Amino acid sequence: MAVFETTKTVSVEESEPLRSDANIAGPTADPVPGPRSEQPDAPGGAVDVARAAPGGNGLPASRAAQLAVAAMHRTGGALPRPQETRTMIVANQKGGVGKTTTTVNLAASLALHGARVLVVDLDPQGNASTALGIDHHADIPSIYDVLVEGRPLSEVVQPVMDVEGLFCAPATIDLAGAEIELVSLVARESRLQRAISKYEQPLDYVFIDCPPSLGLLTVNALVAGTEVVIPIQCEYYALEGLGQLLRNVELVRGHLNPELHVSTILLTMYDGRTRLASQVAEEVRSHFGKEVLRTNIPRSVRISEAPSYGQTVLTYDPGSSGALSYLEAAREIALRGTGSQHQEASEGKL
Ligand SMILES: Nc1ncnc2c1ncn2[C@@H]1O[C@H](COP(=O)(O)OP(=O)(O)OP(=O)(O)O)[C@@H](O)[C@H]1O
Ligand SMILES: [Mg+2]
Repeated sequence: MAVFETTKTVSVEESEPLRSDANIAGPTADPVPGPRSEQPDAPGGAVDVARAAPGGNGLPASRAAQLAVAAMHRTGGALPRPQETRTMIVANQKGGVGKTTTTVNLAASLALHGARVLVVDLDPQGNASTALGIDHHADIPSIYDVLVEGRPLSEVVQPVMDVEGLFCAPATIDLAGAEIELVSLVARESRLQRAISKYEQPLDYVFIDCPPSLGLLTVNALVAGTEVVIPIQCEYYALEGLGQLLRNVELVRGHLNPELHVSTILLTMYDGRTRLASQVAEEVRSHFGKEVLRTNIPRSVRISEAPSYGQTVLTYDPGSSGALSYLEAAREIALRGTGSQHQEASEGKL
């Protein structure tokens, strides 16, 4: 596997404000024609507090979910469900690149398409649990109990309110100790894989939200799934450190999980007004090629506000550019999984 050049050729000074187009770059620049409920965020990101009520537009979350489904239909209708469960590992050891945001919003998008989706929160910070409105204080049965105590996954999984078909195995602060506790346990790298394989409820997708490190928790995730999803933030140094993640993927594939591969790269926090973002996007596309989703996720105040209401952006502000981008990215993922992408592309839908 090639070692990456970093984005050092891209200079911050070169970034220029403007380009009024596109939160979403490329051929899918405007996946859903029609009015937006959100403008591209202004520099300094003023937040419309009046709209920041329980649903971002003052709607109950369940109504918001219905609107998200309507928006989804505008982006192309129902999606095929995979024949077998697809287990997606959302990983990047760089912090704050959008792993959790991507996990919860892709998971919610697919659940709104009728899929049954489990989010496994594998980060002691518990951010995915928070974003899905799942209680995760210290006494809650959590993924720690599954990994360290051998508790069945079904005993810790909770349904997510307002999004039918979406479930979460929460993380509590206990998980912070698991990296060390796992070291001395039998089959320390495959404990999550075993737990998921014994889970009896039917699932279309499992999304595993990894912590920003490459320790035993991330290794457990890499052993438990087949598809690695790497969110890359469109900023300086975006590719730095990725070589290490890719080498770990190779190592786990070689020794523990022959099916493992990087299936999806998603560009996050894309600001179409800056040259830096488009240069990073270009560089990522030239390194990774077909794994990079055509849809970029725009930088969006709505996306960043949603977790503080225990919601995904899909229910918080279903018509926002952030929600529509995640719906579109989820659609690409669902279609790629069934090989219908070429057909879609030739029909000009992607
Ligand atoms: N598209 C976006 N637009 C605006 N803000 C975003 C976007 N995506 C993520 N954020 C914000 O950026 C911050 C980091 O995102 P997130 O928590 O998803 O990253 P992470 O990779 O999971 O972080 P960590 O490495 O700490 O687990 C959060 O405050 C989140 O709300
Ligand atoms: Mg996170």
